[in-house]
Amino acid sequence: MSKPRVLVTRAVFPDVIERLSQHFAVESNQEDLIFTPDELASRLQGKQGIFLTPSERISADLIDRCPGLKAICNMAVGYNNIDVDAATRAGIVVTNTPDVLNETTADFAWALLMATARRVTESEHWLRAGEWKKWRYDSFLGADVHGATLGIIGMGRIGQAVARRSTGFDMQVIYHNRRPIAPELEARANNARYVDKEELLRTADHVMLVLPYSAETHHTVGAAELALMKPGATLVNVARGGIVDDKALIAALREGRIAAAGLDVFENEPAFDPGFLALKNVVLTPHIASASEPTRRAMAECAEANLVAALSGKTPPNMLNPAAWPGRSN
Ligand code: GLV
Repeated sequence: MSKPRVLVTRAVFPDVIERLSQHFAVESNQEDLIFTPDELASRLQGKQGIFLTPSERISADLIDRCPGLKAICNMAVGYNNIDVDAATRAGIVVTNTPDVLNETTADFAWALLMATARRVTESEHWLRAGEWKKWRYDSFLGADVHGATLGIIGMGRIGQAVARRSTGFDMQVIYHNRRPIAPELEARANNARYVDKEELLRTADHVMLVLPYSAETHHTVGAAELALMKPGATLVNVARGGIVDDKALIAALREGRIAAAGLDVFENEPAFDPGFLALKNVVLTPHIASASEPTRRAMAECAEANLVAALSGKTPPNMLNPAAWPGRSN
């Protein structure tokens, strides 16, 4: 029997390709070319599986054009790049990579919070530019993190990992979520207290966004929300571009309506709004919150395990749409 055919859309650890090749006829892309939707559709003809990254968009139209597809395995926890409903209607299993990146992403959220509140990158750029001539009492005065109120919007597994880290900083944690989490989880998350979004924005010294992107969460933070925040507050987004209205944020940062922002994700990334580059009070990183060596490996291996299971008739460990599974034959 011939092996199922799969496409790996982007460059990935070479050993992942080697292991996938034991199960599948693999078309890889170790040159890391960026495929247009038409190129993706053409490469997917005759393929049963796809191993992809959050950069590739799997739309309903693309799904319609790839009738043989049975499994879409994302190397990411977020899956807003995939039309899961269309996949389910077409009987295609969709998987993601939850949990393996929680702690690494929470570490990075803290890196951005600290860098933003204490102006780490701004002062480093100044030093590198040869501007450091003398010590001054008011050089790069920032905001304290310890003892402050941390407001987390999106209290899933990553949000809770962020909150747990705040105990060493003697912080108060408030959060907003679709619904409150269980009391024992709140207790573990530094006794986090559920509040409505408006109270969170008005009260927090540091606002952290850790919620999934969807039509409902589009522009969760826009001009109106930024106007509610404290003038000295910082905003950190490690979730997804589109959760923040970038134009509104640029205006708020330019006018000093909030103190600073730390951003790992952007609308239309990697083509982010150039308005950010003109601002000193923003820390910008290229969507790397999960990018530690062990975690990116764990994510790749998780996507690999999902693809192998899905195309050998076993329930994939991280299936997002069980409704696609009944009656399935490979
Ligand atoms: C990365 O952005 C992820 O969703 O895993």
